[in-house]
Amino acid sequence: MPTFPSPLLHQLAEEFGTPLWLYDASVIRERIQALRAFDVIRFAQKACSNTHILRLMREAGVVVDSVSAGELERAFKAGFSPAGDPAGIVFTADLLDRPTLEQVVAQRIEVNAGSIDMLHQLGQRSPGHRVWLRINPGFGHGHSNKTNTGGENSKHGIWHTQLPQALAAIRQHQLHLVGLHMHIGSGVDYQHLEKVCDAMVELACGMQHDIEAISAGGGLSIPYVGHEPRVDTQHYFGLWDAARQRIAAKLGHPIRLEIEPGRYLVAEAGALLTEVRAVKQMGSRHFVLVDAGFNDLMRPSMYGSYHGISVISDRAQSGEAPPVPTVVAGPLCESGDVFTQQDGGTVVSRDLPTTQVGDLLLFHDTGAYGASMSSNYNSRPLIPEVLVENGQGHLIRRRQTIEELLQLESL
Ligand code: LLP
Repeated sequence: MPTFPSPLLHQLAEEFGTPLWLYDASVIRERIQALRAFDVIRFAQKACSNTHILRLMREAGVVVDSVSAGELERAFKAGFSPAGDPAGIVFTADLLDRPTLEQVVAQRIEVNAGSIDMLHQLGQRSPGHRVWLRINPGFGHGHSNKTNTGGENSKHGIWHTQLPQALAAIRQHQLHLVGLHMHIGSGVDYQHLEKVCDAMVELACGMQHDIEAISAGGGLSIPYVGHEPRVDTQHYFGLWDAARQRIAAKLGHPIRLEIEPGRYLVAEAGALLTEVRAVKQMGSRHFVLVDAGFNDLMRPSMYGSYHGISVISDRAQSGEAPPVPTVVAGPLCESGDVFTQQDGGTVVSRDLPTTQVGDLLLFHDTGAYGASMSSNYNSRPLIPEVLVENGQGHLIRRRQTIEELLQLESL
């Protein structure tokens, strides 16, 4: 967990205002280090797509996965190169809209195809294009049903039994098959992660087509709640390395092993700094209202996700603020704007030191799918992002203005 000292938090709140996203660069670098054994670490930038974070990744030897024209542009801005070598960008999707098809063709961006239609559309426009096949192995898992990307209830990937049809499309258009990819969900338990290795070996060893690489996808969990285990990355690499070796033996040549995490690399590096603006009692419930809403941090409202919360005040630090069961909520005009809730929307209380208006609250582990899932709901501008390096905060995105919000609507 990053150690943002209280004086720094007060200083940053003063300087940039709240709410405010924070990232600790050293935590991101540590997580990268833990995955170094993989030949290629490909960051799923949807987790956190600020160009400064992407540049940090690039400088640390990490490459990226992009899923939209906007993410491609971010990757270019951060200095990633478009095409064809392992250091390039891979575009992963289940469909290609028309402008994005033109873009990947023009810039020769490697495409990870999640449907056979993508292969035909790409093949007709760009014979010889480098492609991956994203395979849905018939099972999946995730921290929520909404993040399970495998099995027949999921729209993602090419169904595993349709690999022959996908290969036929590849041959028909003389596409160049780079490798096979499986990503079965986000926040996946270890049992399911292990199952993916076997599914990959079975598929890759059974197919009559050469490949250069396999990708383990992402999905690695992090301990949002203290007692949850952390993935043993050495053990995980060992499983995939064994899978890679079996496939390489069958093919008769070595292959590259990629991993594509989002959450694992950035979640624990991030925090959301907010200020308490109202405290009220509603019957038996004690509510603390902060200046961030689910338009900023959507995960609790969307999935019932848990984020640790610290009260940053002198009284809390000195132990003079006795804990009270507290519901933490935001300013939005919607009852679901509650940070302490379970999947399905049941409001729950959390024991937090007594707070008063003006105290700061820090939400932990918001580095993944925090800022990147924010919206302008209730016409609230996007909030700033600050990267902390060597104890110093650097503004890496300023606060959006209300004028900028209105610019697209000409009256
Ligand atoms: N690769 C592909 C193709 C993906 O779709 C994803 C995530 C990843 C890699 C990275 O997965 P990770 O390592 O971060 O689990 N908004 C949700 C998570 C959605 C993940 C979508 N795809 C959340 O806040 O938990």
